[in-house]
Amino acid sequence: MKRIAVFTSGGDAPGMNACIRAVVRAGHYYGLEVFGVIRGYDGMINGDLMEMDDRSVSNIIQKGGTILKSARSEAFRTPEGRKKAFQNLKKFGIDGLVAIGGNGTFTGAQLFHSEFGIPCVGCPGTIDNDLYGTDFTIGYDTAVNTCLAAIDRIRDTADAHERAFFIEVMGRDTGYIAVRSAIGGGAEMAIMPEKKMNVKDIIEKFKYGTSSSKSSHIVVVAEGDTSGRAGEIASAVKKAIPDLDIKVTILGHVQRGGAPTAADRVLASRLGLGAVEGLLKSKTNVMVGVINRTLTYTDFKETITKKKPINNELSRMIEILNGRKYQQPSEAKASAKAEKSTKAKKKAKSK
Ligand code: F6P
Repeated sequence: MKRIAVFTSGGDAPGMNACIRAVVRAGHYYGLEVFGVIRGYDGMINGDLMEMDDRSVSNIIQKGGTILKSARSEAFRTPEGRKKAFQNLKKFGIDGLVAIGGNGTFTGAQLFHSEFGIPCVGCPGTIDNDLYGTDFTIGYDTAVNTCLAAIDRIRDTADAHERAFFIEVMGRDTGYIAVRSAIGGGAEMAIMPEKKMNVKDIIEKFKYGTSSSKSSHIVVVAEGDTSGRAGEIASAVKKAIPDLDIKVTILGHVQRGGAPTAADRVLASRLGLGAVEGLLKSKTNVMVGVINRTLTYTDFKETITKKKPINNELSRMIEILNGRKYQQPSEAKASAKAEKSTKAKKKAKSK
């Protein structure tokens, strides 16, 4: 192997630049020539490659985004697109690839490898942390910290106005960002696809939470929750508890930007180096990850198809730390009965 190319693809994530830097510098350390592909798979199809020297990655370790740009390529989904991409890589003499991205990126890389045999090692780069084969993905820690900074601010105003906030975070169809943001942000609930709650369950749980002496409430909602988006869930809760002042905040793409945290810079650097060393050891069609602090290589096939479960301990603790005492089912039944009768009395009085 003499010449490798690195590219970023799919949703950008803070720390991708640190990973590019590591690939370029590690490549040179081992005597390889390193090229950067601009705009992911689209760049391969368009022949948009440039040689990168050590200085081309100076001063980027601290920057969000990706200096190589990113894209979700439609053209690469076609056999013609992939053929063109391969022809261009051949033209540039590329004999190995480092793909920094998520599930879609590795699905493309696997297909590309099966058709043209070009060795490829992937680095998990996505804020979603939804990849099997690594404890954490590049960008996840930064995204969670960005959510926390926002939740802390929302908490101030929620408290001042005694309101309930439903805060929607990203994560595609997983709740990794939601669960850690909820714990770190001291939220009462994390609503996420892994919990499989319907709106009725959510309302019941929320009612239980609001019956404490708290005057403001924070609920984190994963964008991919199956019972609906934060706005829909908040409307249903408002219908059930009309007296509650409810607001919705969607954090959106703010979660994708910003300087990577120390954890993301170190992880990205480690994975970038691991990818180059993997290619040199003839590893291919694998994603490099860190599991229990140890560098590991997992087949793309597994990474793409297997689900990484959310640690139950994490979702369980949100409820415990919510500040309500555990009730035995019989106690819960009794307090629900008491609540019902208070309501009935109130209703009768108002008549
Ligand atoms: O995969 C990263 C991610 O930010 C997801 O959390 C989100 O669902 C999606 O990308 C948004 O994609 P886009 O930037 O293309 O709208």
